[in-house]
Amino acid sequence: PSLKETFKDDFFIGTALNNAQIEERIPGAAVLVPQQFNAVTPENIMKAEVMHPEWNRYNFDLSDKLVAYAKKHNIVVNAHTLIWHSQLPQFVRRMKDADSVRLFFKEHINTIAGRYDGQVYSWDVVNEALNEDGTMRKSIFFEKLGDDFVVEAFRLAQKAAPTTKLYYNDYNIEQPKKRAGAIALIKKIQAAGVRIDGVGIQGHWHVKNIPLKDIEQSILDFSALGIDVMFTELDLSVLPNPRDIVGADLNQRAEYETKLNPYTKGLPDSVQLLLAKGYEDVFRLFLKHKNKISRVTFWGVDDGQSWLNGFPIRGRTNYPLLFDKEFKPKPAFYKVIELKNKN
Ligand code: G3I
Repeated sequence: PSLKETFKDDFFIGTALNNAQIEERIPGAAVLVPQQFNAVTPENIMKAEVMHPEWNRYNFDLSDKLVAYAKKHNIVVNAHTLIWHSQLPQFVRRMKDADSVRLFFKEHINTIAGRYDGQVYSWDVVNEALNEDGTMRKSIFFEKLGDDFVVEAFRLAQKAAPTTKLYYNDYNIEQPKKRAGAIALIKKIQAAGVRIDGVGIQGHWHVKNIPLKDIEQSILDFSALGIDVMFTELDLSVLPNPRDIVGADLNQRAEYETKLNPYTKGLPDSVQLLLAKGYEDVFRLFLKHKNKISRVTFWGVDDGQSWLNGFPIRGRTNYPLLFDKEFKPKPAFYKVIELKNKN
């Protein structure tokens, strides 16, 4: 079965792609991606540090390849991301004065959003501008340009990319306080008469702690703003957070290795089933509100390439996705398909 076929009347089914996958250097992914997904997000290559490494130098090699790849397979590109405090090039991180930051901000959005207008389906115009309590994050953009920088980013993007959908993207915005901050931010953009087409809830959750009630309330609250709601970076970690390992001294990692990285030899059936149940629960919600949800994107193709093998500490074996490192569908995959077929 295929995810994109199964959910074709409901929402786009996307995946994040890394460099090797975009260049089709990984045979398993090269087969799986066009078969399973109809939307792709570049995991890293459209971030500022890659696309705009120096003042007057842009790097479009990989993004052009991505666009060509997507076109060939009839897949839409959700470009990620124009304005983010992280993965910024050195020359921006070193900026001290507001004028330089403002100039970079304008040039960056105009050049990149302009170049890909008509070629990508959407942009995450601003990523992760909020703190957990819903206030604005003290990023370089906030510090130098003030809290209107988000509105300004959308204003510039709307001008440079009139036919591209424009989104705000963040994690934990299903949580009440941060959600309220996101709603206020979106309303502010709308009140300024600037276009915003959607909001992306990232969806990096832990399998034992999926905030289903908050997710559902967010779908309702965000869609009430008259914009698209998407889940843009879905994965369900099965590993403990290092902070939760009582007494762990990560400098003495060897001592704690089995606690930090318990499933190096494979996922026990019980956890495999828990993961399947977790995905079943979130997809049940997504289907219940399918009229309000326009896309569900997984943050990665297969467990082998997931960023969660390296976060929050490197060298772990996580199992957060629907395909294992051999690109075989896991029980969670079949659960999600079965759920749809039963409905
Ligand atoms: O490219 C270098 C490579 O040259 C070097 O040898 C290697 C060793 O450290 O690092 C490579 O860069 C890594 C890069 O991914 C590409 O693999 C960075 O260290 C690593 O920090 C970076 O991580 C990415 C992370 O964003 C950075 O913030 C993850 O792959 C990517 O999945 C993650 O994605 C973010 C979304 O953009 C926004 N939402 C959260 C999500 C997860 O953090």
